[in-house]
Amino acid sequence: MTTFARVTSTAELDAILALDDVCFHHPWTRADYERELQDPARCFLYVLKVHGVVVGYCSFWRIFDEIHLNNFALHPSHRRQGLGRSLLAHVLAEAEAIGAPNATLEVRASNTAALALYHAGGFVRAGLRRAYYTHPVEDALILWRGRPGPS
Ligand SMILES: CC(C)(COP(=O)(O)OP(=O)(O)OC[C@H]1O[C@@H](n2cnc3c(N)ncnc32)[C@H](O)[C@@H]1OP(=O)(O)O)[C@@H](O)C(=O)NCCC(=O)NCCS
Repeated sequence: MTTFARVTSTAELDAILALDDVCFHHPWTRADYERELQDPARCFLYVLKVHGVVVGYCSFWRIFDEIHLNNFALHPSHRRQGLGRSLLAHVLAEAEAIGAPNATLEVRASNTAALALYHAGGFVRAGLRRAYYTHPVEDALILWRGRPGPS
């Protein structure tokens, strides 16, 4: 059974940090997440659980009528099962429900899996930040969903 939940306490942080370790080279620290949780009007963190176990998560900031997606990951053993698509649809619906129908994010130019997921979710390319990422250095594509261009 798949469920989604907004994280409002530190209870799920161990699971999220463990996911980060296998998904990202330079993940956020526990202190980063703790700071986010202290600002619930702006910072949103969601987990996706399968049979009660956290296998995916997403974090975003709400900025007026937009959200900025910061982190999005599924555990490698749960990829290509439509869970990323479901999590993305869930957080976009939650964002709309709080008055933020527009969304933006940065993604590595070589991240074909994420790009395909975001394009399927209605995001389009809106810009490029050169050498935005390190380890390895790489450009970021800026994607938008919603009304054209930054609001
Ligand atoms: C990107 C990521 C979240 C996708 O999650 P997922 O659960 O595997 O995605 P889904 O199974 O819901 O796939 C949805 C669509 O995304 C695309 N997609 C997902 N993985 C893909 C891959 N490896 N190659 C190409 N397309 C892929 C496909 O279009 C897919 O639809 P389809 O299965 O009908 O073809 C996952 O690969 C991940 O966690 N990657 C590491 C972290 C990361 O890069 N996060 C994004 C940072 S911006």
